Parts: sequence; C-alpha cells; structure tokens
Amino acid sequence: MYVCLCEAITDKQIRNVARKYHVTSLKGLRQILPVGRECGKCIRQTREILQEELRHL
Ligand code: FES
Repeated sequence: MYVCLCEAITDKQIRNVARKYHVTSLKGLRQILPVGRECGKCIRQTREILQEELRHL
C-alpha cells in the first residue's frame, strides 16, 4: 500500500528500512527514504508505521 504518493513509497519499504537500519524516528527514516518531502500528508501514517515497528522490536 502506498503511504507517500508524492514519492511513491509503500508501507513495506518503510518497514524494511526500519528493520534493516534500526530506524526509530521519522528523522532517521528520512535520511534513507524521501518520505514526506513534498506535501507532508503522509507524515502521520509514516509515524504510525514506525511506532508499530518499534512495538515489534
Ligand atoms: Fe508524502 Fe506527499 S504524500 S509527501
């Protein structure tokens, strides 16, 4: 499912990056994926996905 339409980034990509690089923050994620750099509508959902990943650590 696409989370960030502007950059064509899916929830799977976000989860993969979070797991592979042990990313726990939006700031850290954005150093790897350009999520939320345009309109910003995806920021909230991206944070929720990161929170879910943290719960599974
Ligand atoms: Fe992610 Fe627009 S939907 S920046």
